[in-house]
Amino acid sequence: MPETDVGKSYHAETIGEQQAAYDEWAEKYEADLCAMGYRIPAVIAAVFTRFVPQGTAPILDAGCGGGIQAEPIAMLGYGPITGIDLSEGMLAVARQKNIYEDLRQMTLGERLDFPDHTFGAVISSGVITPRHAPAHAFIELVRVTKPGAPIVFSLRDDPEQEPEYPQMLERLEKEGAWQPVFRTPSFHSMPYGEPDVTHRVHVYRAGS
Ligand SMILES: C[S@@+](CC[C@H](N)C(=O)[O-])C[C@H]1O[C@@H](n2cnc3c(N)ncnc32)[C@H](O)[C@@H]1O
Repeated sequence: MPETDVGKSYHAETIGEQQAAYDEWAEKYEADLCAMGYRIPAVIAAVFTRFVPQGTAPILDAGCGGGIQAEPIAMLGYGPITGIDLSEGMLAVARQKNIYEDLRQMTLGERLDFPDHTFGAVISSGVITPRHAPAHAFIELVRVTKPGAPIVFSLRDDPEQEPEYPQMLERLEKEGAWQPVFRTPSFHSMPYGEPDVTHRVHVYRAGS
């Protein structure tokens, strides 16, 4: 059986393979994910409105893909929003939505091209996860977040999750880099496509 697009993204061995997988998938990604019942963006949007006051700016969408996550945030009046992603193909889809002030190719896990304490809030859906962005990507996200500002992200918590990710949440808390504020219960994030995958949405505040 030929490998599906989601399978290619799970099996990418290098950043280059991951980028190519998403470039190729970009035009179909949103339709495929919606068919899988992808619900992280709705959960993040709901959590975001609870913890992020109107007027908070600017906002970073880290691993923005084609912009599914930023759409409800922009509709609710938040912005300006900057999106970063590895894949130029996904950025091109996001660009068509006209909801971002800026869209730039950057790699989570490497140094981000923003000064310290740039963003008033950060969102990241479905990105800091095995074969995508590594756990240490959180260190740079904290650096570019204003002290005390919220970082709202999804993280897998099913048995396939790699331990580095929850370990990094704890490490940053112990170091005082951020403090936990809220986390959702575990939920099936793509029930019609990947029924064994579960996620939680977390809120942390960058340390001051
Ligand atoms: C599952 S999609 C999620 C996209 C969007 N946040 C959403 O919820 O639809 C994963 C995205 O992460 C991007 N990505 C994967 N690894 C990355 C990395 N190391 N740095 C930046 N983006 C990455 C991919 O190009 C893709 O757009």
